[in-house]
Amino acid sequence: MRHFRADPVPREVVEEIIEVARWTGSARNRQPWRFVAVSAPQVRERLSGFGGYALHLANAPLVLVLASHDNGFADTEFDMGRLAQSVCLAAAHHGLGTCVTTFHPANNIHRAADLLALPSDWLPRHAIAMGYPAPTKPTAPTAIPRGRKSVPELLTWVQ
Ligand SMILES: Cc1cc2nc3c(=O)[nH]c(=O)nc-3n(C[C@H](O)[C@H](O)[C@H](O)COP(=O)(O)O)c2cc1C
Repeated sequence: MRHFRADPVPREVVEEIIEVARWTGSARNRQPWRFVAVSAPQVRERLSGFGGYALHLANAPLVLVLASHDNGFADTEFDMGRLAQSVCLAAAHHGLGTCVTTFHPANNIHRAADLLALPSDWLPRHAIAMGYPAPTKPTAPTAIPRGRKSVPELLTWVQ
């Protein structure tokens, strides 16, 4: 979801979410992740300008940037996806809505890294917009399909 109330996300709630997410399994237990929690409005505004998919970051009271260690391991993307899901589920437990967000194209990843002063081998490819959900509005038309594929479309049996 991409529409949030203005209420801040308390620091201790963010820390409880990280406490859950840090137990996510990763290949060879490398834990190739770091988090940057951004509540500063000017920094969220800057992040929202890093590509056409990030606009909603300006209005999310908390932007949790996920940085990964860029060391060439193919498992890292899979690990980061699992981590992001852990964050979203832990946030939902606290009544928070989330939207996984991509910094695209690659130059925006580097702009975000510079803004957050990350070490050169840590890349912030994604962020998670987070906040208490705003009352739902009628949904605007979107190019992205809604809902999910059905079980028969997704599942094949070999018996
Ligand atoms: C890896 C990944 C990247 C995503 N990147 C963006 C993004 O950059 N901007 C955005 O608004 N939503 C992004 N999303 C959210 C998806 O568009 C959303 O999960 C999907 O459309 C399903 O929406 P729903 O859960 O509301 O049904 C991303 C989701 C994933 C899993």
